[in-house]
Amino acid sequence: MTTTTAPALADRDEYADAIGAALRASAAYYGSGESALDDASFDLLLGLIKAYEERYPEHTDPATPTGKVAGGAVPAGDVAHTAAMLSLGNVFSPQDLLDWEASVLRRLGAPVMGGYAVEPKLDGASLAARYRGGRLVQLVTRGNGTGGEDVSHAIGTIAGLPRELATDASFEVRGEVLLTAEQFERANAIRAEHGAGPFSNPRNGAAGTLRAKGRPYTVEMTFWAFGAVELDGGSALPGTSHSEVMAHVARAGVQTAAATPAGLAVVATLAEVQEQVDRIAALRAGLPFGIDGVVVKLDALAEQTAVGTGSRHPHWATAYKLPAVERRTRLLDVTWSVGRTGVLAPTAVLEPVEIDGSVVRHATLHNPADIERRGLRLGDTVINRSHTASGT
Ligand code: IVH
Repeated sequence: MTTTTAPALADRDEYADAIGAALRASAAYYGSGESALDDASFDLLLGLIKAYEERYPEHTDPATPTGKVAGGAVPAGDVAHTAAMLSLGNVFSPQDLLDWEASVLRRLGAPVMGGYAVEPKLDGASLAARYRGGRLVQLVTRGNGTGGEDVSHAIGTIAGLPRELATDASFEVRGEVLLTAEQFERANAIRAEHGAGPFSNPRNGAAGTLRAKGRPYTVEMTFWAFGAVELDGGSALPGTSHSEVMAHVARAGVQTAAATPAGLAVVATLAEVQEQVDRIAALRAGLPFGIDGVVVKLDALAEQTAVGTGSRHPHWATAYKLPAVERRTRLLDVTWSVGRTGVLAPTAVLEPVEIDGSVVRHATLHNPADIERRGLRLGDTVINRSHTASGT
């Protein structure tokens, strides 16, 4: 369960507890793929940590997950990325989107001339696929953004990433690997035949399958590219715009986000961006895979360069997170654990409820005062929200 408002972290102890909880959640998420915190609670926790650090910069813990790709939790992998694989900043409302535009215009010092590209934020696992001389030679996970795991053993099992391109070009495509609803069903059926437990949701299924070696069965996945970079100092890609780069790799045979039912639209104004966000949000429940937002990028590469990139994410793009989907369930029990500093941390035990293919049994309750304030009683109906759910 997630509250949309939460009290600020009161003191340094609460700050330390919050850091611990966020690091554990992020390690679990990127490790086993299972986190005790749903996405909305994690975002909320990061927001509280960030607000505290802004108020008391001198207390900032070097281990803080704020400002780090993947919450800083992933150890450097064995393959260095050609260029960092960054994450995206978030916006949550039309006003946030306007604020993002204002920051873009401030950095650009001029109006946006090349337009905005708008495409779905696919909810899977990030992957870099290297083509040399037109052949798919290596697959690398995002890892910590600087380096990732070599998962080339999955070559040939991912729809949308052909072994051979229509050209002999060399470049690296970046995109999201996921299981469509149909692939997810099929994967769990195959796993059942092999005595393996079901994947709890398509995203965990994709992340686990990418990393799994030597399984006696194959799980087919799907790839959609959302970017591409040059390899080996070459110049195989158009230098004009994101949409042209995507069209180029699509002609070469790679499936791109433009080929999803949500498509890729290039529009001139922010009002049109908002219309596209609303259009894609309306499609969400009917899509054959999960999306957790809509990504907005400056289309012109020259404008991307001019606006620049921060340590963690580009200033020229943002993810418009879609409203959380709500599920009702019953509060069965509340368990308590004592944090390192002696602070009591309550967890709600819920009647199991399925959200986007994941069974949720627990939720964080922020603190005893929170429970008091909400007047929660055992047996109450509570609402569990998730940013990752697709459809209600
Ligand atoms: S662009 C430098 N576009 O979201 C910009 N990312 O939170 C990098 N994602 O790591 C990302 N759909 O795995 C981009 N259409 C899309 C995306 C997308 C899903 C994922 C990607 C990225 C994460 C950032």
